[in-house]
Amino acid sequence: MAQFATGVTIIAAPLKSGEFVGFTANSFNSVSLDPPLIVWSLARHSRSLAAFESASRYAVSVLAQHQVELARRFSRPHADRFSGVDFRLGAAGAPLIEGAVAWLECRHYALHPAGDHMLFIGEVEGCAFRAAAPLVWHSGKYLTAADQLDS
Ligand SMILES: Cc1cc2nc3c(=O)[nH]c(=O)nc-3n(C[C@H](O)[C@H](O)[C@H](O)COP(=O)(O)O)c2cc1C
Repeated sequence: MAQFATGVTIIAAPLKSGEFVGFTANSFNSVSLDPPLIVWSLARHSRSLAAFESASRYAVSVLAQHQVELARRFSRPHADRFSGVDFRLGAAGAPLIEGAVAWLECRHYALHPAGDHMLFIGEVEGCAFRAAAPLVWHSGKYLTAADQLDS
């Protein structure tokens, strides 16, 4: 799987306390167009698991190539991953990372146990994107996107 190049996202949700939970994820993918569904997985040992399991809404920010430090920060232990981070709140209160390439605001749709991970399926309630180069993850390293080729 390390040879399967992916984008890099930060998936984030609001907590009842007014704080936020968020982590770096590359397991994000599309599932269905009608209704619009996406999927991602979270390790069962994650400190964020209980928070995401009880979140009715969350947001996925697809990171731009200049956001590698954010990707690192949200994949490592940190007292407050959101402190000093430039974000805005979506319609349902989930944090959207400023400067990202795309944002998807999701409603909890389904949760499935899958080995040592939990599969989260979300229904997309809103999305936006901007023309910018994405951050890429491949073979355990961050890359910037290569030149575009014809499809
Ligand atoms: C590029 C990248 C992608 C990642 N994708 C996932 C993922 O999809 N699911 C997951 O559980 N952890 C993933 N991780 C690891 C988590 O970001 C990391 O374990 C994080 O600390 C989990 O949040 P927590 O500390 O709140 O448990 C990824 C790490 C990196 C660097």
